[in-house]
Amino acid sequence: MQEAEKIWMNGELVDWPEATVHVLSHALHYGTSVFEGIRAYETDRGPAVFRLDDHLARLERSAQMYYMPLPYSREQLREAVHEVIRVNGLQSCYIRPIAFRGYGTMGLFPLEATVDVAIAVWEWGAYLGEDSLTEGIGAKISSWRRIGPNTVPATAKAGGQYLNSILAKIESHKSGYQEALLLNEAGFVADGTGENLFVVKDGKLFTPPVSASILMGITRQTIIELADEEGIEVIEAEIPRADLYIADEVFVSGTAAEVCPVRSVDDHLIGPRGPITTRLQERFFNAIVGNDSRSEEWLDYVNQ
Ligand SMILES: Cc1ncc(COP(=O)(O)O)c(C=O)c1O
Repeated sequence: MQEAEKIWMNGELVDWPEATVHVLSHALHYGTSVFEGIRAYETDRGPAVFRLDDHLARLERSAQMYYMPLPYSREQLREAVHEVIRVNGLQSCYIRPIAFRGYGTMGLFPLEATVDVAIAVWEWGAYLGEDSLTEGIGAKISSWRRIGPNTVPATAKAGGQYLNSILAKIESHKSGYQEALLLNEAGFVADGTGENLFVVKDGKLFTPPVSASILMGITRQTIIELADEEGIEVIEAEIPRADLYIADEVFVSGTAAEVCPVRSVDDHLIGPRGPITTRLQERFFNAIVGNDSRSEEWLDYVNQ
């Protein structure tokens, strides 16, 4: 990874190599952390964080689901994100806020353990590979099911929950695919390992609903809003896996992966990037760098 200079930790800016935790930190053993993945992009007015308030709101909800009181307000965290980008002199970057149960308590009752908060930023290019945004990726339906609603809350972005994604990711990688798509317990399509999914059929856009055990992605919400502006009908519906095989277009959305076409699913070729994917990508990539006045409200400028 591309190291930066400073990391914000519990209110202080510390040197990158010093931003460490104790080996007996609770989160390291039990996955008791909640986190966000956010991006800032270079604009004419300096770096702008994309939908920062929405990401911080989701962090608060994830923390709430795990009974983890955040010791900083949304405004304090927003200021901290700005500060750590500024001090590292970055124009565009990935931003990782994390709140976790820290050192001092062991065992499965975490409510007396401390809650530590850190925010790291670093440069991170195309998550699914440089060519992925134009050429698309090969995806595999995972044999691992997406976590069910009565196991852990799928709508929380919590550390331990990602073991599910990690198993699916390794499986797809070992089989020669770039990404895995997970079905939920009912057998319908849920998420990628770190992305939401969209299917284009007959000019309409389909995406799994919250009841399909998805993470409510902020990029997903962005795509829904952009599609609406483009006059493309969006339908939130259960998607059987076979609908992917006969789709006109498939793409995934996520902060890391951005808006990325899916070229094939299992051994079914869907085809090169299609016209609706291209149109929505174009709207998205204009919005994030401030080239579209309609999307100005999504940008949080670091140098205000
Ligand atoms: C499982 C899962 N689904 C979807 C997403 C996409 O969410 P967002 O667009 O908010 O990054 C992510 C990434 O955070 C994820 O981990």
